[in-house]
Order: sequence, then C-alpha cells, then structure tokens
Amino acid sequence: MKQPELLSKLTLEEKAALLSGKTVWETRDIPRLRIPSIFLSDGPHGIRKQAGTGDHLGLNESLKATCFPTAATIANSWDEELGEEIGRALGEEAVSQNIHVLLGPGLNIKRSPLCGRNFEYFSEDPYFAGKMAAAYVRGIQSQGIYACPKHFAVNSQELRRMAMNAVIDERTLREIYLTGFEIAVKEGGAKAIMSAYNQINGEYANENRQLLVDILRNEWGFDGIVITDWGGSNDHVKGVKCQSNLEMPAPGLDSAREILYAVEDGKLTIEELDLCVDELLDAVLTLSGEGQRESKMSGQTAGFDVTAHHELARRAAAESIVLLKNEDSFLPLKPKTKVALIGDFAIEPRYQGAGSSMVNPTRVDSMAELIQGYDLQLVGVKMGYSRTGEADAAMKKEALDLAGRAEVVLYCFGLDEISESEGMDRNHMRVPQNQIELLEELVKVNPHIAGIMSAGSSVEMPWHYCCKAILHGYLCGQAGAGAMLDVLTGKVNPSGRLNETYPVKYEDTPAFRYFPSTERNSEYREGLFVGYRYYDTSGARFQYPFGYGLSYTEFTYSDLDVDESGVSFTLENTGAMDGAEVAQLYIGMPNGKVFRPKKELKGFRKIFLKKGEKKRIRIAFDDKSFRFWNVKTGQWETEGGESQIMIGACVADIRLTGTLVVRGNME
Ligand code: BGC
Repeated sequence: MKQPELLSKLTLEEKAALLSGKTVWETRDIPRLRIPSIFLSDGPHGIRKQAGTGDHLGLNESLKATCFPTAATIANSWDEELGEEIGRALGEEAVSQNIHVLLGPGLNIKRSPLCGRNFEYFSEDPYFAGKMAAAYVRGIQSQGIYACPKHFAVNSQELRRMAMNAVIDERTLREIYLTGFEIAVKEGGAKAIMSAYNQINGEYANENRQLLVDILRNEWGFDGIVITDWGGSNDHVKGVKCQSNLEMPAPGLDSAREILYAVEDGKLTIEELDLCVDELLDAVLTLSGEGQRESKMSGQTAGFDVTAHHELARRAAAESIVLLKNEDSFLPLKPKTKVALIGDFAIEPRYQGAGSSMVNPTRVDSMAELIQGYDLQLVGVKMGYSRTGEADAAMKKEALDLAGRAEVVLYCFGLDEISESEGMDRNHMRVPQNQIELLEELVKVNPHIAGIMSAGSSVEMPWHYCCKAILHGYLCGQAGAGAMLDVLTGKVNPSGRLNETYPVKYEDTPAFRYFPSTERNSEYREGLFVGYRYYDTSGARFQYPFGYGLSYTEFTYSDLDVDESGVSFTLENTGAMDGAEVAQLYIGMPNGKVFRPKKELKGFRKIFLKKGEKKRIRIAFDDKSFRFWNVKTGQWETEGGESQIMIGACVADIRLTGTLVVRGNME
C-alpha cells in the first residue's frame, strides 16, 4: 500500500464514497482527515475549466485558455518534440487554473474516416498515435499534474458509444487498438487513464479485467489511476474489482452504497476496496501537495503567458499544415500577387471541434485580418458561401466578381462546426455542397485557385481538379490563420504529412460495410487492415496516402545501411529552400508465414535541413519493430527470416529498401 496510515483511518463509508466524484469535475474531500478534492478538466488541445455549472458536453462556457491545434493537426507535424512542448504549455495552463488531472490526450484509432471524434485523435496507425500521445503525456506531466490518455480502448465510433460492443479478434486488439496506449503508458509514463464507454467483446471497458488488470496493470506496469469516462460506469462494484479507481462525474451516494452492500455480501473484499482507495488517495495527495499551487486566475485573466502560448499555437499550426497539391510550383505566392480572399472560413475561421474538447480561446486570428500584414495586393475579401450550408446567389455573385479581378484566388473551405462533433459520426465524407458549387464556378472565372482547407478529418475530393494548389490546415487552433499565410507566402516551408489515408470515395474504405454499427455489436471485421495497412496491402486506390505531404524544396535519400539495431541513411535537401522532411521507417516480411500487412510504420524522424545540406540519419529499431501477437500462444513473438526494411517519404513512396535477417522466437 502507498498510503497505509491514512487508509487505516478511513471508515468503510468514507472509502466507498471516495471512489466516485463529488461534482462534475471534482473528487470527494474528507476534511476531518485533511484529504482535499482534486480537480479534473478537459482537454486535449486546450483547457476547458468550467468555473460555473459544469457539463461534459462543452455546453457552458469555460475560462479562457489557448486553443492549440487539435491532436489530428499536430499529428501531421510528425514532431514528438513539438507534441511535448504543447503538452508542457497545456500543463502550465492547467496548473494556473488549479487543475490536477488533464483529461487527454485522446488516441483512439481512426478506424473509419466517419468517426465524429477523429479530429481529437492522432492517427490510423497505433505506433505513431502512441508516440505522439507519449510526447503529450511527458509534457503535461512535467508540470506536476497527471495526463489522462483516453479512451481505453477500442472507442472508434461515436454512434451508441455508451451501448456498443466492439467485437474484435485478439490480434487486432493487441496490434492495432492497444499498442498506442501501451506506448503512452510505458514511454509516456501516464499516471492516469480514462476507460472508454463501450464494451469490448462483451465486457464494458471499465469492468474489463483483461484490459484493466491483466494488460494495463500486470503487463504494462501501470501504477496510476483509472478514471471512468463521464457516465461510463455501468457496474461500479465490478469496476472497483478491476481496479478502476474513480467513477465520474457525480453519481451521488448511490455508488458508495453499492460498494457497501457488496462488501456486506462478500462480493467485494476489503482488500479489493483498499487497493483502489489507496491508489486514488496517493494520487490525490501527490497532486494536491505539488507546490501548493494557488490559483493564479483573477477573473478571466489567465496566469500564464498568453502571448507566448499564442505564438506556440501558431508555430505548431505552421509545422502541421500539409501541402497536398502544388501544380507547376503555384505556391508560394510571389510578392505583390493580386489576391482575392474568399470563403466564410477566411473571415471566421474553423479552428477547433465541438463537444467536450471545446476551448474558450484567449483570442482568434482570421486570415481576413492578418492578410493586410503580408506583401500581397489584396483585391478584396468575400464570404462567398455561408457555413450553414444554405446557397446564397448574391454572396456567390460577389465572390465571382472579385475572383475575376485577381491573379490568384485564395479559397478557404472545408467542414463546418456541425459536420464533425463528439457524440455523432459523420454520415458522409463530403464537403458541404454549397462550398463545392462555388468552387466549381470560381474555376471558370479564374483557374488560379489555392484551396485552403479546414477539416478535422479526411474528406472526398472530387473537386480536386479545381485547385492549382491545396493546403490542408486541419483544425489549426486559434492562431492558425497566421500560420497559413506564412505557408502561402513562403515564409514557412510546409512540412506537414498526413496522419491518415485519404480515400477516393467513402465506399473504398476498409470498414465501410460495418461502420458505424447501428446495432449493439460493432464487428471489427477488417481486422488488422485499418487505414494504409488495407490500401497498401490490397493495392486499393486512394486519393492521398498515409504520411504524404509536399514541400517547397526536394529531398534525396541515399546510402541505406541496415544493422541489427537500426537503419542509417543520408538525407539531402537538394531543392532551393530550407525545409523539413519526415523520413518514415516501414517494415514488412513478404515471405513470412504469418499473415500480416505489406508494411507497417516502425519509426520516423522529422529532420530540418538548410538548402544544400546533407545529414546522416539514424532510426533505431525497438521492441515493436518485428513483433506480432501470436494468438496461439497468447504472447508477442517474432517470426524469424528476412524482413524488408524500407525508408519512405510516405507509405506509397519508398525511397530506400534493404533487408535484415531477424532471429525469431516463435514457439
Ligand atoms: C468525453 C471525454 C471527456 C469527458 C469529460 C466525455 O463525454 O468522452 O473525452 O473527457 O466527457 O468532459
């Protein structure tokens, strides 16, 4: 036990009461023993501390905080250090608002492009999602508070999220849906974890012994606290038996009574109860004692450097913007180009998603305001369409007239606030029709269009041909507008790479027939073949591959060396501009006996090189490089034989290939 003395002083009733929340955001205090409450708050890309009435749906306003780009956006930076830096800033803001547990990051796997929360999640790839999540966790926890990676596990669908049973085979569960959490726990050192709403193979996540005890605690060595998602406890006693330490939000004393009856009936032992209480007590004492943090908030003014965090949000957005298309080096724009800025999102940016992650930003920049500060000739700004999706002939005409007077049209478009939100899945992958109708008419008036997209998840692009260049900002946070202008004008060379595959059509996606399940069971029939693992292995078509993104410069790869512990190669910036490349390590085993995807991401590095600069790059193998989950033996194993080692600029653009004979340990 961690707190034996204090534990011995608690009555049975007090112990039972401690294991559920006092309010929507606080744990119970016990003044007679000086056990304080701790405060928990969302969220993953900015603090959402509700000072007034609390709710977990993002309805009531929260205190002002920096709205950083969402996880899906930062994932496109492929920069773990940046993730850690954002984590630190989030932690700092949390501390300044007297928050002890920050409810994030979210790292569920993007099984389908339609999941309503994809904007909050990192990737379709577990290794990558885990690395980014671990970076956030390290950053957040460096500030003396706990991060709480969520939602553990297999919560890749919003529809019926509280009453859905994910039916999934053991290997897919381990390799795709748990590996990210394993990395967040083992490498990030997460001290809290949030259990998901759904069931996994018939057991609610919060009552799932295999997940919470066998895997999380015993295999991964997690020694922190498990917190239910808000309203995610179904059988409190069963949860406590599985070492779920805190039911949130505030079920009144009903849950405590259930514990008391269970102890009386012998369904729950005192030892089981004590174990749960002890872990929670230890967290409460550790967190509340930390630096006696007094709230630095006075009214709405935050006790952190608002300007510095805004600048960080801008830099982060700039590093994450993805250049998808750039015909005839259309971008960057030349100085003094005559531009027309068109689109509702140019005036009122779409920069974050809806639901529990919604931040009340310290300020929000727009392209319409900031463009004045750039060396361009602005011929005008027009909305062109309304984000509510209603067609408006007068607005359209104004935009077309303006476009006719410019050399280049900067067209801001994408998904609006209602298109993607927590609590529901999208029912298609299209950008609203009124925005596309306008684009198709704009191109007739002026074919020099740079499409500037805002959307937290992937979309279909049948309108692709209308744009000479496409920049995808995802959900860029409160400072995204300046970042986008920096990239457009070449002040920043784009270095974002997609965290997910863009299919041509929704019908081409691997889970299309089974997602979202409208019934209790959601069958994960595509198995391991999620995202690029499917497209790459089957040769199915796609619009843009995983890991893809262009730059204003060029990179050349050469001289691959493969040894037992990793790979080395030379990377050279052979273009005309300084810039960063994301080198990706994929491993496959074409002649292996074990059925597996053609290649899988096993490492990556973001490298900045000045023009003409050349560097030797090393990416080390790790315990995940060659392993697979053997369902026969119930353990991680390595198949012996020749592995293919590939270095690529994305999954579909492998630049260097080598081999390594790996010693197996298959039984
Ligand atoms: C969400 C969590 C969030 C919690 C508290 C739930 O509905 O699923 O991600 O942390 O609410 O707001």
